Amino acid sequence: MSPLSNRTVATIGSGVMAESIIAGLLRGKLVGPGQIVGSEPRPERREELTSQYGVRMVASNLEAAAGADVILLSVKPQTLTKVGHELGGHLKPNQLVVSIIAGATCRVLTSLLDHREVVRSMPNTPAQIGRGITVWYATPEVTEEQCAQARVLLQALGTDLQVEDEKFVEMATAVSGTGPAYVFLVMEALIDAAVHLGFPRHVAHDLVIETLEGSTAFAKATAQHPAVLRNMVTSPGGTSAAAIHELESGRLRTVLSEAVWASYRRTIELGSELEQGLGLNEGVSDATNGRAASGARSKTSTARRPGH
Ligand SMILES: NC(=O)c1ccc[n+]([C@@H]2O[C@H](COP(=O)([O-])OP(=O)(O)OC[C@H]3O[C@@H](n4cnc5c(N)ncnc54)[C@H](OP(=O)(O)O)[C@@H]3O)[C@@H](O)[C@H]2O)c1
Repeated sequence: MSPLSNRTVATIGSGVMAESIIAGLLRGKLVGPGQIVGSEPRPERREELTSQYGVRMVASNLEAAAGADVILLSVKPQTLTKVGHELGGHLKPNQLVVSIIAGATCRVLTSLLDHREVVRSMPNTPAQIGRGITVWYATPEVTEEQCAQARVLLQALGTDLQVEDEKFVEMATAVSGTGPAYVFLVMEALIDAAVHLGFPRHVAHDLVIETLEGSTAFAKATAQHPAVLRNMVTSPGGTSAAAIHELESGRLRTVLSEAVWASYRRTIELGSELEQGLGLNEGVSDATNGRAASGARSKTSTARRPGH
């Protein structure tokens, strides 16, 4: 029996990601359409989701949340404060809030909603086809039963990874959350290079996509360190050696590392901005730098394995 059997799920802000969760839950028969209610300001979007999935859609966030066992917060970060003020003080202790909002810290969520049972998560774009990875953290007040509910909900987006410290959600934002952007940029650059060599664009596109997909599948299937796989195709004085020399000269590793750090710092800043907007970190000086340093330089990972 699914942890969401006989439970109701409310999606507050029923855009792209909420729809992916609704579709995934229904596809896996983890809930029936009658167990889902969504809120959404635009009437045409409400009609679209009702006709496609048979779920109930309402205009009021409060109406959607009332009586729901699990409340998915899936509005954009800039809408969070407004929605939080609407819901704040109206949630019951046994209701679980699951947020997928980038940068929204548990401190922001619990204070804005005046509610303790909160899960902060970070999915990524491939979630839209059920192939994402979502890293999530539950506040201590979230029960085991509610953790099981959150896990099932987030697995509608692909793989999940529960972590025991919120800082890993912030770090994951810079790695897996932003990760598809890095991959798409590399994809685009390789396609352009292939076109520059003389391939028609559609051929260049297929060559690159299949190479990326095949390489990922190969790395997964063999579970080998990437350096081992790379050495397999690097013959002495060969073509790969010549290409890798150029990539290393261009500081590819350093640039990627700097990109991940920049994304991480921005994640922390967004959280601090939201907290400041709520007057939560008044009197705290240089919070951004402090959290960035203590969070990302920790060598102790308490991350659990996906699905556990
Ligand atoms: N997309 C991703 O790959 C991804 C990855 C990780 C995290 N996230 C996070 O997921 C959240 C949702 O992203 P998304 O891509 O699903 O965005 P989205 O498609 O824009 O969905 C947000 C929805 O909220 C609705 N909305 C606006 N104001 C509202 C209000 N006051 N009350 C209730 N609903 C309201 C919007 O309606 P209108 O369209 O009418 O404005 C829209 O349907 C974001 O916070 C983002 O940080 C997204």
